Amino acid sequence: MDNNKIIIFDTTLRDGEQSPGASMNTEEKLRIALQLERLGVDVMEAGFAAASPGDFDAITQIAKQASNIRICSLARAVERDIKAAGEAVAPANKKRIHTFIATSPIHMEYKLKMKPDEVIKRAVNAVKYAKTFCDDVEFSCEDAGRTDIVFMKEICDAVIEAGAGTINLPDTVGYRLPTEIGEMIKQMVEFVKARAIVSVHNHNDLGLATANSLAAIMAGARQVECTLNGLGERAGNASLEEIVMAIKTRHDIFAPLYTDIICKEIYPSSRMVASITGIEPQPNKAIVGKNAFAHESGIHQDGVLKHKETYEIISAESIGLERNSLVLGKHSGRHAFKDKLASLGFELNNDALNEAFDKFKELADKKKEVFDDDIRALVTSEFIKIPEIYEIVTLGQSNCNKGLASASVTIKFDNELISDAALGNGTVDAIFKVIDRISGINGLLKDYKVNAVSQGKDALASVVVKVEFDEQNAVIGHGLDIDTMMASAKAYVGALNSYVRIKNLNR
Ligand code: KIV
Ligand code: ZN
Repeated sequence: MDNNKIIIFDTTLRDGEQSPGASMNTEEKLRIALQLERLGVDVMEAGFAAASPGDFDAITQIAKQASNIRICSLARAVERDIKAAGEAVAPANKKRIHTFIATSPIHMEYKLKMKPDEVIKRAVNAVKYAKTFCDDVEFSCEDAGRTDIVFMKEICDAVIEAGAGTINLPDTVGYRLPTEIGEMIKQMVEFVKARAIVSVHNHNDLGLATANSLAAIMAGARQVECTLNGLGERAGNASLEEIVMAIKTRHDIFAPLYTDIICKEIYPSSRMVASITGIEPQPNKAIVGKNAFAHESGIHQDGVLKHKETYEIISAESIGLERNSLVLGKHSGRHAFKDKLASLGFELNNDALNEAFDKFKELADKKKEVFDDDIRALVTSEFIKIPEIYEIVTLGQSNCNKGLASASVTIKFDNELISDAALGNGTVDAIFKVIDRISGINGLLKDYKVNAVSQGKDALASVVVKVEFDEQNAVIGHGLDIDTMMASAKAYVGALNSYVRIKNLNR
């Protein structure tokens, strides 16, 4: 093993998916998984196999298709979870089971209601059982940040003996400061020596997840767990892009340490995660926020024009954000479109290329300039489209008068066109009500987000909805259109299709 390499363990599809509102369907997870492979992550935590049949299915699909990357499933230290994890990752070329149990006094006493020696026994049995499915087993001390270090050494010793190759020490509640994490990792690296890789997993409750991860790396951790855009439970996880770019930009401090991340894939990956989850990074988010490379003040602009490095420590191009890239329009041909797709990292087969080109032409007819972000959104939305059981054909809306509006919708279902109309409190409400009437399935809208994909009054609208149909678990739908109401209708019908498909699968 190369002791200078920092293993990037991405958990966007597991801890990231635990962000409120970030649940994804199998197609969406698969798109992100293939992008993570292009990005060059070393290990991908594809989900928590025992959580649901949907999670299991997504991990299996990813294990079959993402062949250059190590695929991992999380499992509690119980047989049922480990069996599901082992079976879900089985098709992967390179696989790992990640099992965990809480080790802090507060978790052991109140959550697990177990004595420390019982916890050790359970952890050892879990690792031994996981080893019957695959060679590569990671063990996590949940809430390591608040675990007694003597006990942590004892349990880590036991699980390494049982066969764990990676020991992960999460600051589960995001409580620790960089100096404390550095000290904990230093002690654990000295204790573990070359018997296992020491890994960190930091949460961002105090805004310190990246700083804590970098402190851990400096103290000897050689695997870091992180997510794109810093998604994750509560305030999120350490952000992949921040850790990677800190190591690269501060080469003077971190050398000879390095990662194998292809930095030019950072921005496309971040955009894909944002458009699929509907969770945009805050505008001032480091590296991938909308303003990360914007210079507003005259003094800064003047400086950057004279010499970029006066105010820029990272170039936008280095993360794959091409600022002065060619804008396409309705006269652009297939060749220019194909080149553009390639420069944005999309490799499409002929059929997909033809379909994407038709969509582009449709858009360019309505929109004068088509920007990179438009093309990214267009292609991503085509890729993640799930089979259309219900398909929106036409949409008519009346003026919204004193809040009351009407909408008429035609939907194709089972090769039949069905039209209906409804009144609502505002146009969106009216549209969603008609769709409910046509399908006969009642939806409760839990969340609705609209974003302009690029600049200009004629920007594409990207709508993400979260809907509970028939009082079942909420599903997500996406809609992209130059008309915001049509994008809303498409998003709602997308969620409906997702719900019906899950219902059919569960039958
Ligand atoms: O934060 C945490 O402790 C986790 C573990 C399950 C690794 O996500
Ligand atoms: Zn976590």
